[in-house]
Amino acid sequence: MKNTIPEKALVALPDFRSSGAASFTPPGFKIVPPEEAFVPAFDRSFHFGDSIYEVTRTYEGILFALNEHLRRLKHSAKLGMYEKFPDTSHIVHMARETCRAFFRKFGNTDVYMRITVSRGQGDLNIDPQYASDPYTLVFVKELDRPAKDFYEKGVHFAVVTRRRNAPAALDPAMKSGNYLNNVLAIAEASRLGAQDALMLNLRGFVTEGTTNNFFAVKNGIVLTAPLSVGILAGITRELVFEVCQNSGIELQERLFTESELGSCAEMFFTSSTKEVVPVTTLSARSVGDGRPGPITKRIHEGLKSAIRAYVEAHRSESLFA
Ligand SMILES: Cc1ncc(COP(=O)(O)O)c(C=O)c1O
Repeated sequence: MKNTIPEKALVALPDFRSSGAASFTPPGFKIVPPEEAFVPAFDRSFHFGDSIYEVTRTYEGILFALNEHLRRLKHSAKLGMYEKFPDTSHIVHMARETCRAFFRKFGNTDVYMRITVSRGQGDLNIDPQYASDPYTLVFVKELDRPAKDFYEKGVHFAVVTRRRNAPAALDPAMKSGNYLNNVLAIAEASRLGAQDALMLNLRGFVTEGTTNNFFAVKNGIVLTAPLSVGILAGITRELVFEVCQNSGIELQERLFTESELGSCAEMFFTSSTKEVVPVTTLSARSVGDGRPGPITKRIHEGLKSAIRAYVEAHRSESLFA
């Protein structure tokens, strides 16, 4: 597969040339097409993966669960020992303006939005004391629509040998720009012919996918790993908990191993951009009867209604042109 930069995209970033290296808060920002969007060569996110980020999407011009994402971004800054953090209202302003500019330029459609906060730029010394102030970048691009098959037939995951980072080393709860653990896991999965990797932790317990949380259904009960196993506290994961509670579906947050997956009739993953996706093949073996299961479908329907309710409640915040 060839790597491509999306045609329909805009990036908001500090006006590096005019603001100089010393101070970026509060920066002015400019919104530019991808071919004009550059970060400085001394940016720490490039050298050390020293950044944090969030991804959400829009529904009908409304940024979904923005407050929850900002809360998690701040939590990542705390875990990442950021001493300074850009003003939240500035991040929101950048995010909203970039979406508005996108809709004006490309029309009203659903978009993917990524907010990245780099610790800044500075001398090539890993010590964060060398960093300028943190600065924000916002990426907005047309949302990739997975093929219908994705939801109707499900996807193939492979349990990989690459283990999920240990929380005491690089806590997966911090959504940082340092995704090499996940990059290596998905590269291994793809060599095995799978679309994504299911990672175990160092003790052999199931954790998560490379960009999603993982669930399995055993005897009608939904299982998912507790946060303590070393995973990201997914915002969609949390919504799935609410859906299960409201629909009378039993959910257990507990440790489980790869061998227990052998007795699970359904599996699915969750993420902000893809919602709920059935996993119908695990390491080249069919899950259940190899088709998306009824509980997975009910949970996805429940999530869709929660999203519709959110959109109705936030209708006045639509950024559509
Ligand atoms: C490692 C990882 N786990 C889980 C998720 C799902 O989180 P959310 O539902 O908040 O999108 C993501 C999303 O990017 C992720 O990168």
